[in-house]
Amino acid sequence: MTPRHDPHLKAFASDNYAGVHPEILQAIVAANGGHQISYGEDVYTEALQDVFRNHFGERARAWPVFNGTAANVVSLRAMTAQWEAVICAESAHINTDEGGAPEVVGGIKLLTVPTPDGKLTPELIDRQAWGFGDVHRAQPRVVSISNTTELGTVYTPAELTALCAHAHDLGLLVHLDGSRLTNAAAALDVPMRALTTDAGVDVLSFGGTKIGLMYGEAVVVLNPDAAGGIDCLRKTFMQLSSKMRFVSAQFEALLAGDLWLRNARQANAMGRRLAAAVRELPGVELSRPVEANAVFAVLPADVAERLRKRFRFYTWNADLGEVRWMCAFDTTEADVDAFAAALAEELAA
Ligand SMILES: Cc1ncc(COP(=O)(O)O)c(C=O)c1O
Repeated sequence: MTPRHDPHLKAFASDNYAGVHPEILQAIVAANGGHQISYGEDVYTEALQDVFRNHFGERARAWPVFNGTAANVVSLRAMTAQWEAVICAESAHINTDEGGAPEVVGGIKLLTVPTPDGKLTPELIDRQAWGFGDVHRAQPRVVSISNTTELGTVYTPAELTALCAHAHDLGLLVHLDGSRLTNAAAALDVPMRALTTDAGVDVLSFGGTKIGLMYGEAVVVLNPDAAGGIDCLRKTFMQLSSKMRFVSAQFEALLAGDLWLRNARQANAMGRRLAAAVRELPGVELSRPVEANAVFAVLPADVAERLRKRFRFYTWNADLGEVRWMCAFDTTEADVDAFAAALAEELAA
Protein backbone atom coordinates (compact mmCIF):
# COMPACT_ATOMS: atom_id res chain seq x y z
CA MET A 1 0.00 0.00 0.00
CA THR A 2 1.26 3.51 -0.80
CA PRO A 3 1.82 5.57 2.34
CA ARG A 4 -0.68 8.42 2.62
CA HIS A 5 1.76 10.73 4.32
CA ASP A 6 4.93 12.60 3.57
CA PRO A 7 7.58 10.72 5.56
CA HIS A 8 9.74 13.85 5.59
CA LEU A 9 7.11 16.19 6.99
CA LYS A 10 7.81 17.15 10.59
CA ALA A 11 5.51 19.20 12.75
CA PHE A 12 6.09 21.15 15.93
CA ALA A 13 2.49 20.87 17.10
CA SER A 14 2.71 18.04 19.59
CA ASP A 15 4.96 15.18 20.52
CA ASN A 16 2.11 12.86 19.61
CA TYR A 17 2.33 13.91 15.97
CA ALA A 18 5.36 11.60 15.86
CA GLY A 19 5.02 8.04 14.68
CA VAL A 20 6.00 4.91 16.57
CA HIS A 21 9.61 4.29 17.54
CA PRO A 22 10.97 1.35 15.50
CA GLU A 23 11.95 -0.58 18.65
CA ILE A 24 8.35 -0.30 19.85
CA LEU A 25 7.00 -1.50 16.51
CA GLN A 26 9.39 -4.45 16.68
CA ALA A 27 8.08 -5.28 20.14
CA ILE A 28 4.51 -5.30 18.83
CA VAL A 29 5.55 -7.61 15.99
CA ALA A 30 7.41 -9.88 18.41
CA ALA A 31 4.31 -10.12 20.60
CA ASN A 32 2.20 -11.14 17.64
CA GLY A 33 1.36 -14.73 16.71
CA GLY A 34 0.10 -17.45 18.95
CA HIS A 35 -2.57 -17.12 21.57
CA GLN A 36 -2.31 -15.38 24.92
CA ILE A 37 -4.86 -15.16 27.67
CA SER A 38 -6.85 -11.98 27.08
CA TYR A 39 -7.69 -9.02 29.35
CA GLY A 40 -4.25 -8.69 30.93
CA GLU A 41 -3.50 -12.22 32.01
CA ASP A 42 -0.90 -12.58 29.27
CA VAL A 43 2.80 -13.13 29.89
CA TYR A 44 3.73 -9.63 28.66
CA THR A 45 1.49 -7.85 31.16
CA GLU A 46 2.74 -10.12 33.94
CA ALA A 47 6.36 -9.34 33.10
CA LEU A 48 5.55 -5.64 32.95
CA GLN A 49 4.96 -5.44 36.67
CA ASP A 50 8.64 -6.09 37.35
CA VAL A 51 9.62 -3.46 34.81
CA PHE A 52 7.51 -0.84 36.60
CA ARG A 53 8.76 -2.01 40.01
CA ASN A 54 12.35 -1.52 38.83
CA HIS A 55 11.59 2.13 38.09
CA PHE A 56 9.13 3.00 40.82
CA GLY A 57 9.86 0.67 43.74
CA GLU A 58 8.61 -2.57 45.23
CA ARG A 59 5.10 -1.36 45.99
CA ALA A 60 4.37 -0.09 42.47
CA ARG A 61 1.64 -1.76 40.43
CA ALA A 62 0.68 -0.77 36.90
CA TRP A 63 -2.60 -1.00 34.98
CA PRO A 64 -2.17 -0.31 31.24
CA VAL A 65 -4.91 1.79 29.63
CA PHE A 66 -5.47 3.23 26.16
CA ASN A 67 -4.81 6.93 26.66
CA GLY A 68 -3.76 9.64 29.05
CA THR A 69 -7.17 11.11 29.69
CA ALA A 70 -8.32 7.67 30.81
CA ALA A 71 -5.25 7.17 33.00
CA ASN A 72 -6.12 10.43 34.75
CA VAL A 73 -9.81 9.68 35.12
CA VAL A 74 -9.27 6.13 36.40
CA SER A 75 -6.53 7.30 38.79
CA LEU A 76 -8.54 10.16 40.22
CA ARG A 77 -11.75 8.15 40.54
CA ALA A 78 -9.82 5.41 42.34
CA MET A 79 -8.47 8.00 44.80
CA THR A 80 -11.69 9.82 45.66
CA ALA A 81 -15.14 9.15 47.05
CA GLN A 82 -18.13 10.80 45.36
CA TRP A 83 -18.17 13.75 47.72
CA GLU A 84 -14.46 14.45 47.34
CA ALA A 85 -12.60 16.79 45.02
CA VAL A 86 -9.27 17.26 43.23
CA ILE A 87 -7.15 20.40 43.50
CA CYS A 88 -5.22 21.20 40.32
CA ALA A 89 -3.66 24.07 38.40
CA GLU A 90 -6.04 25.96 36.15
CA SER A 91 -3.75 25.02 33.24
CA ALA A 92 -3.86 21.28 34.09
CA HIS A 93 -4.69 18.99 31.18
CA ILE A 94 -7.46 17.45 33.30
CA ASN A 95 -9.06 20.91 33.44
CA THR A 96 -8.39 22.28 29.98
CA ASP A 97 -7.98 19.45 27.50
CA GLU A 98 -9.91 16.37 28.46
CA GLY A 99 -13.34 17.35 27.18
CA GLY A 100 -14.58 17.49 30.75
CA ALA A 101 -13.92 13.73 31.13
CA PRO A 102 -12.91 13.97 34.81
CA GLU A 103 -16.24 15.66 35.54
CA VAL A 104 -18.48 13.98 32.95
CA VAL A 105 -17.10 10.44 32.96
CA GLY A 106 -15.40 10.37 36.35
CA GLY A 107 -17.92 12.49 38.21
CA ILE A 108 -15.01 14.28 39.84
CA LYS A 109 -15.14 17.87 41.07
CA LEU A 110 -12.04 19.89 40.17
CA LEU A 111 -10.93 22.79 42.35
CA THR A 112 -8.62 24.89 40.20
CA VAL A 113 -5.91 27.39 41.10
CA PRO A 114 -4.30 29.95 38.75
CA THR A 115 -0.51 29.62 38.62
CA PRO A 116 2.19 31.70 36.94
CA ASP A 117 4.06 28.73 35.46
CA GLY A 118 1.78 25.69 35.59
CA LYS A 119 3.18 24.53 38.93
CA LEU A 120 1.34 24.18 42.22
CA THR A 121 3.14 25.06 45.45
CA PRO A 122 2.15 24.48 49.09
CA GLU A 123 0.84 28.08 49.19
CA LEU A 124 -1.20 27.62 46.03
CA ILE A 125 -2.65 24.34 47.32
CA ASP A 126 -3.86 26.22 50.41
CA ARG A 127 -6.07 28.43 48.21
CA GLN A 128 -8.34 25.43 47.69
CA ALA A 129 -7.49 23.20 50.68
CA TRP A 130 -10.19 24.45 53.00
CA GLY A 131 -13.72 23.63 54.12
CA PHE A 132 -12.84 20.20 55.51
CA GLY A 133 -15.93 18.82 57.22
CA ASP A 134 -18.20 21.48 55.67
CA VAL A 135 -20.99 19.46 54.08
CA HIS A 136 -21.66 22.28 51.62
CA ARG A 137 -18.25 22.01 49.99
CA ALA A 138 -16.82 19.19 47.89
CA GLN A 139 -14.16 17.79 50.17
CA PRO A 140 -10.58 18.30 48.94
CA ARG A 141 -8.95 14.87 48.77
CA VAL A 142 -6.33 14.86 46.01
CA VAL A 143 -3.77 17.30 44.65
CA SER A 144 -3.11 16.59 40.97
CA ILE A 145 -0.01 17.99 39.30
CA SER A 146 1.66 17.43 35.92
CA ASN A 147 5.39 16.94 35.28
CA THR A 148 6.42 18.27 32.86
CA THR A 149 3.67 20.83 33.22
CA GLU A 150 1.37 21.96 30.43
CA LEU A 151 3.47 25.14 30.28
CA GLY A 152 6.69 23.23 29.65
CA THR A 153 8.12 23.69 33.13
CA VAL A 154 9.61 20.96 35.30
CA TYR A 155 9.10 20.31 39.02
CA THR A 156 12.34 19.41 40.80
CA PRO A 157 12.57 16.57 43.37
CA ALA A 158 12.82 19.19 46.17
CA GLU A 159 9.69 21.02 44.97
CA LEU A 160 7.80 17.74 44.72
CA THR A 161 8.93 16.53 48.13
CA ALA A 162 7.76 19.79 49.75
CA LEU A 163 4.47 19.72 47.85
CA CYS A 164 3.73 16.08 48.75
CA ALA A 165 4.65 16.62 52.41
CA HIS A 166 2.31 19.60 52.57
CA ALA A 167 -0.52 17.71 50.88
CA HIS A 168 -0.09 14.72 53.17
CA ASP A 169 -0.03 16.98 56.25
CA LEU A 170 -3.44 18.26 55.13
CA GLY A 171 -4.70 14.68 54.69
CA LEU A 172 -4.57 14.97 50.89
CA LEU A 173 -3.21 12.46 48.39
CA VAL A 174 -1.01 13.35 45.42
CA HIS A 175 -1.65 12.33 41.81
CA LEU A 176 0.93 13.02 39.13
CA ASP A 177 -0.05 13.34 35.48
CA GLY A 178 3.15 11.93 34.04
CA SER A 179 2.19 12.18 30.42
CA ARG A 180 5.73 13.59 29.99
CA LEU A 181 7.42 12.26 33.13
CA THR A 182 10.19 10.82 30.98
CA ASN A 183 10.99 14.30 29.65
CA ALA A 184 11.06 15.72 33.18
CA ALA A 185 13.42 13.01 34.45
CA ALA A 186 15.70 13.38 31.44
CA ALA A 187 15.74 17.17 31.80
CA LEU A 188 16.90 16.91 35.42
CA ASP A 189 19.02 13.82 34.84
CA VAL A 190 17.37 11.97 37.72
CA PRO A 191 15.68 8.56 37.88
CA MET A 192 11.91 8.69 37.47
CA ARG A 193 11.43 7.50 41.03
CA ALA A 194 13.09 10.69 42.33
CA LEU A 195 10.13 12.60 40.87
CA THR A 196 7.50 10.14 42.05
CA THR A 197 7.91 7.43 44.69
CA ASP A 198 10.78 9.08 46.56
CA ALA A 199 9.05 12.47 46.59
CA GLY A 200 5.83 11.02 48.03
CA VAL A 201 3.56 10.84 44.96
CA ASP A 202 0.75 8.36 45.60
CA VAL A 203 -0.60 7.58 42.13
CA LEU A 204 0.91 8.24 38.71
CA SER A 205 -0.56 8.43 35.22
CA PHE A 206 2.44 7.24 33.22
CA GLY A 207 2.71 8.41 29.64
CA GLY A 208 3.90 6.23 26.78
CA THR A 209 2.32 7.65 23.63
CA LYS A 210 4.27 10.92 23.52
CA ILE A 211 7.59 9.18 23.96
CA GLY A 212 7.34 6.57 21.21
CA LEU A 213 4.49 4.15 21.81
CA MET A 214 1.79 3.58 19.21
CA TYR A 215 -0.70 3.97 22.04
CA GLY A 216 -0.81 3.22 25.71
CA GLU A 217 -0.50 4.83 29.12
CA ALA A 218 -0.63 3.28 32.56
CA VAL A 219 -2.17 3.95 35.93
CA VAL A 220 0.66 3.26 38.37
CA VAL A 221 -0.23 3.04 42.03
CA LEU A 222 2.82 3.82 44.16
CA ASN A 223 1.04 3.86 47.52
CA PRO A 224 -1.41 0.94 47.69
CA ASP A 225 -3.39 2.68 50.44
CA ALA A 226 -4.17 5.62 48.15
CA ALA A 227 -6.39 4.01 45.53
CA GLY A 228 -8.78 1.10 45.29
CA GLY A 229 -10.89 -0.82 42.85
CA ILE A 230 -8.78 -0.20 39.75
CA ASP A 231 -9.22 -3.75 38.44
CA CYS A 232 -12.95 -3.06 38.17
CA LEU A 233 -12.82 0.68 37.46
CA ARG A 234 -10.62 0.17 34.42
CA LYS A 235 -13.33 -2.00 32.86
CA THR A 236 -16.15 0.31 33.93
CA PHE A 237 -14.33 3.18 32.22
CA MET A 238 -13.89 1.12 29.03
CA GLN A 239 -10.12 0.87 29.35
CA LEU A 240 -9.65 -2.88 29.74
CA SER A 241 -7.91 -3.92 26.56
CA SER A 242 -8.72 -7.49 25.61
CA LYS A 243 -5.46 -7.84 23.65
CA MET A 244 -3.49 -6.13 26.38
CA ARG A 245 -0.28 -7.90 25.43
CA PHE A 246 0.25 -5.34 22.68
CA VAL A 247 0.14 -2.40 25.10
CA SER A 248 2.31 -4.18 27.65
CA ALA A 249 4.90 -5.28 25.10
CA GLN A 250 5.30 -1.64 24.06
CA PHE A 251 5.85 -0.52 27.63
CA GLU A 252 8.39 -3.27 28.19
CA ALA A 253 10.33 -2.12 25.13
CA LEU A 254 10.21 1.46 26.35
CA LEU A 255 11.13 0.86 29.97
CA ALA A 256 13.17 -2.33 30.34
CA GLY A 257 16.20 -0.67 28.78
CA ASP A 258 17.01 2.97 28.18
CA LEU A 259 14.73 3.71 25.22
CA TRP A 260 12.60 6.05 27.35
CA LEU A 261 15.70 8.04 28.29
CA ARG A 262 17.17 8.16 24.81
CA ASN A 263 13.86 9.38 23.41
CA ALA A 264 13.30 11.95 26.14
CA ARG A 265 16.85 13.28 25.86
CA GLN A 266 16.45 13.70 22.12
CA ALA A 267 13.13 15.55 22.44
CA ASN A 268 14.54 17.81 25.16
CA ALA A 269 17.77 18.48 23.29
CA MET A 270 15.73 19.54 20.26
CA GLY A 271 13.66 21.84 22.49
CA ARG A 272 16.88 23.49 23.69
CA ARG A 273 18.24 23.71 20.15
CA LEU A 274 15.05 25.31 18.90
CA ALA A 275 15.03 27.84 21.74
CA ALA A 276 18.66 28.75 21.06
CA ALA A 277 18.01 29.10 17.32
CA VAL A 278 15.05 31.49 17.64
CA ARG A 279 15.85 33.36 20.87
CA GLU A 280 17.73 36.19 19.18
CA LEU A 281 15.46 36.57 16.15
CA PRO A 282 13.98 40.08 16.13
CA GLY A 283 10.20 39.88 16.57
CA VAL A 284 10.27 36.62 18.55
CA GLU A 285 10.03 36.52 22.31
CA LEU A 286 10.33 33.27 24.21
CA SER A 287 7.46 33.64 26.62
CA ARG A 288 8.24 30.85 29.08
CA PRO A 289 11.33 29.08 30.35
CA VAL A 290 12.39 26.19 28.12
CA GLU A 291 13.00 23.32 30.53
CA ALA A 292 12.20 20.22 28.46
CA ASN A 293 10.73 19.73 24.97
CA ALA A 294 8.23 22.60 24.77
CA VAL A 295 9.01 26.08 23.47
CA PHE A 296 6.49 28.89 23.91
CA ALA A 297 6.91 32.09 21.94
CA VAL A 298 5.13 35.32 21.14
CA LEU A 299 5.40 36.46 17.54
CA PRO A 300 3.46 38.68 15.13
CA ALA A 301 0.18 37.09 14.03
CA ASP A 302 0.91 37.39 10.31
CA VAL A 303 4.26 35.67 10.76
CA ALA A 304 2.64 32.83 12.70
CA GLU A 305 0.01 32.47 10.00
CA ARG A 306 2.57 32.23 7.19
CA LEU A 307 4.82 29.88 9.13
CA ARG A 308 1.86 27.64 9.85
CA LYS A 309 1.47 27.05 6.12
CA ARG A 310 4.89 25.39 6.21
CA PHE A 311 4.88 23.66 9.63
CA ARG A 312 2.02 22.73 11.90
CA PHE A 313 1.92 24.11 15.46
CA TYR A 314 -0.68 25.29 17.95
CA THR A 315 -1.70 28.75 19.04
CA TRP A 316 -1.47 28.74 22.81
CA ASN A 317 -2.90 32.13 23.69
CA ALA A 318 -4.43 34.01 20.77
CA ASP A 319 -4.79 37.25 22.77
CA LEU A 320 -1.07 37.33 23.45
CA GLY A 321 -0.03 36.00 20.06
CA GLU A 322 1.57 33.08 21.90
CA VAL A 323 2.28 29.80 20.16
CA ARG A 324 3.62 26.44 21.35
CA TRP A 325 6.30 24.49 19.53
CA MET A 326 6.82 20.94 20.69
CA CYS A 327 9.71 18.63 19.90
CA ALA A 328 9.33 14.86 19.76
CA PHE A 329 11.66 11.89 20.13
CA ASP A 330 12.09 11.82 16.35
CA THR A 331 12.69 15.55 15.85
CA THR A 332 16.14 15.94 14.32
CA GLU A 333 18.67 18.76 14.28
CA ALA A 334 17.89 19.24 10.60
CA ASP A 335 14.16 19.58 11.39
CA VAL A 336 14.86 22.23 14.00
CA ASP A 337 17.26 24.12 11.76
CA ALA A 338 14.79 24.07 8.87
CA PHE A 339 12.05 25.35 11.13
CA ALA A 340 14.21 28.14 12.56
CA ALA A 341 15.30 29.16 9.05
CA ALA A 342 11.68 29.25 7.89
CA LEU A 343 10.78 31.41 10.88
CA ALA A 344 13.64 33.80 10.11
CA GLU A 345 12.46 34.03 6.49
CA GLU A 346 8.89 34.79 7.48
CA LEU A 347 10.02 37.42 9.98
CA ALA A 348 12.05 39.10 7.26
CA ALA A 349 9.29 38.90 4.62
C1 LIG B 1 -0.33 16.89 30.39
C2 LIG B 1 -1.08 15.87 29.61
N1 LIG B 1 -1.76 14.92 30.27
C3 LIG B 1 -2.40 13.94 29.63
C4 LIG B 1 -2.41 13.88 28.26
C5 LIG B 1 -3.03 12.68 27.62
O1 LIG B 1 -3.99 12.87 26.73
P1 LIG B 1 -4.59 11.76 25.74
O2 LIG B 1 -5.89 11.38 26.35
O3 LIG B 1 -4.72 12.52 24.48
O4 LIG B 1 -3.67 10.59 25.64
C6 LIG B 1 -1.78 14.88 27.51
C7 LIG B 1 -1.84 14.88 26.02
O5 LIG B 1 -1.76 15.87 25.37
C8 LIG B 1 -1.08 15.89 28.21
O6 LIG B 1 -0.42 16.86 27.54
